[in-house]
Amino acid sequence: MDYKDLIARMKSVRDYKKDVLSNEIIQKLDGYCKNSKKLVEGINTEVMLKAKADVYDELKNDAGYNDLMLEAPHYLLFFSEEKDNYIENTGYAVQDIMLKAFELGVGSCWITIRDGELVKNKLGINTDKKLTALVALGLEEDNKNKTIVENVSEYNPSKANVSIVKDNVSERMGVTDIVYMKKWGEKAELDDLVNLGLADAFFYARLAPSTKNRQPWRFMYDNGIVVLAVRKDESTNEYEEKIDAGIVMLYFKLIVDSTLFNVAWKLGKTEKEYEIPSDYSIVAYCNS
Ligand SMILES: Cc1cc2nc3c(=O)[nH]c(=O)nc-3n(C[C@H](O)[C@H](O)[C@H](O)COP(=O)(O)O)c2cc1C
Repeated sequence: MDYKDLIARMKSVRDYKKDVLSNEIIQKLDGYCKNSKKLVEGINTEVMLKAKADVYDELKNDAGYNDLMLEAPHYLLFFSEEKDNYIENTGYAVQDIMLKAFELGVGSCWITIRDGELVKNKLGINTDKKLTALVALGLEEDNKNKTIVENVSEYNPSKANVSIVKDNVSERMGVTDIVYMKKWGEKAELDDLVNLGLADAFFYARLAPSTKNRQPWRFMYDNGIVVLAVRKDESTNEYEEKIDAGIVMLYFKLIVDSTLFNVAWKLGKTEKEYEIPSDYSIVAYCNS
């Protein structure tokens, strides 16, 4: 896959054509789901692709932002065993599947889950794994896409105003707003990131989707180590923070792997604490 191209063009799709996907596409997607990328080895997962008739009416008032369920011809449900970092692993694997879908011409959008057990009961799904992701899938309706724009103010995230606007590209912060050098708040210079060979990785990582487009990730570069910190907001919960972290780790790794060398994220805190503010926590780091 040409990840730079896919990441640059991909966006959440919220208006779908009624047409169902062809069997050929469904089979390709289904095949890919079984082998999607993993952040953590050894976690058993399961993916189900379901038609609208089996999902939409049941979940009409029980999933999505403000319980506004997205209407789509298909849905992907991702189930996971509960093990360390299984939620970050879900973000990573599911976004990888969404990129594959996009490559096949299929649009998608994450749908917030408030109560996974309720969803399983309503859909009559019997598995001991937890429902960790729900995604709308289908062909994008022409010229109708809406995007979420959030006030991404660093200093007052809880006042973020989420509104739906009719354009095609959700806003993102600049690379130098999300990458610090050695010290929290010390903004990186683009030239330095270019010299380190990491400018592209950060450029594309910041295009990662996140809950309510809150872009909660900050990176710190310190002597060959890239540290990832993620913000907690009043409007989001731990599940959403972890999914957002998993997604950005995928984007960063895909680009580094395709340009320079293979990186491996290590989940957990660094020895050094970096005096980061209390609303952020270090979630992972890698050697670059
Ligand atoms: C964990 C998660 C949950 C999301 N839930 C919803 C949702 O319930 N409804 C919705 O319309 N968009 C949802 N989104 C999509 C984000 O709002 C979207 O990715 C973000 O606004 C950036 O826009 P873009 O994907 O078009 O670049 C969710 C995204 C993530 C990562």
